[in-house]
Amino acid sequence: MMDFTVHGGWPQPLCALPPFAADLAADVDSLLAAHRCTITREHVPRVAREAVILARRFGVDPEAARAAALLHDVGGIVRRADMVALCESLGLPVVPEERQVPMLLHARLSVVLARERYGVTDAATLQAIRFHTTLHAEPAPLDVVVFLADKLEWDQGGVPPYHAELSAALDGGLRAGARWMLAWMATPAARLLIPHPDLRAAWAAFGITSPG
Ligand SMILES: [Fe+2]
Ligand SMILES: [Fe+2]
Repeated sequence: MMDFTVHGGWPQPLCALPPFAADLAADVDSLLAAHRCTITREHVPRVAREAVILARRFGVDPEAARAAALLHDVGGIVRRADMVALCESLGLPVVPEERQVPMLLHARLSVVLARERYGVTDAATLQAIRFHTTLHAEPAPLDVVVFLADKLEWDQGGVPPYHAELSAALDGGLRAGARWMLAWMATPAARLLIPHPDLRAAWAAFGITSPG
């Protein structure tokens, strides 16, 4: 595994991060704090709470939802400038859109940390982490729970402009909520830097016309 520089200027390999203390929420919080990810640190526990609420409401395993939500953005401790090189060194595929907007790789790196640091082996939990930003063509209910929790408790400050409409859409079920959110992400209001291929696949699967 290559050395890489994380926020705070620590050139060290992934495995040399401080040891995992025991409590997942506390450890993620201290890791984000140590890497000065202030916004994410505030965002993650909100997403975890929302994910558990959605999971209970829609018959999804709340523990898996909580774990995936706590870990979904932990890959953000890697500096954006290092994300492409790190993913390549780990043998992870990097698509052109990710090369253009490296932050799109944070979810892949969250999966690596979930597996390597936190010992998460459950494929469903790892998949929910992996696709939390975009969803994909055939999302499982757990994927949708984490995706929507991340959107309802977004990290852009305050309440998202779509909160009421998304909440109303969820009255029609988890898939209706996912469809509503994906459709909103196809509007100019979403101000997407670039649509990730996984998002395009989700739009196609949900019958949403992609912009541009
Ligand atoms: Fe994220
Ligand atoms: Fe997030």
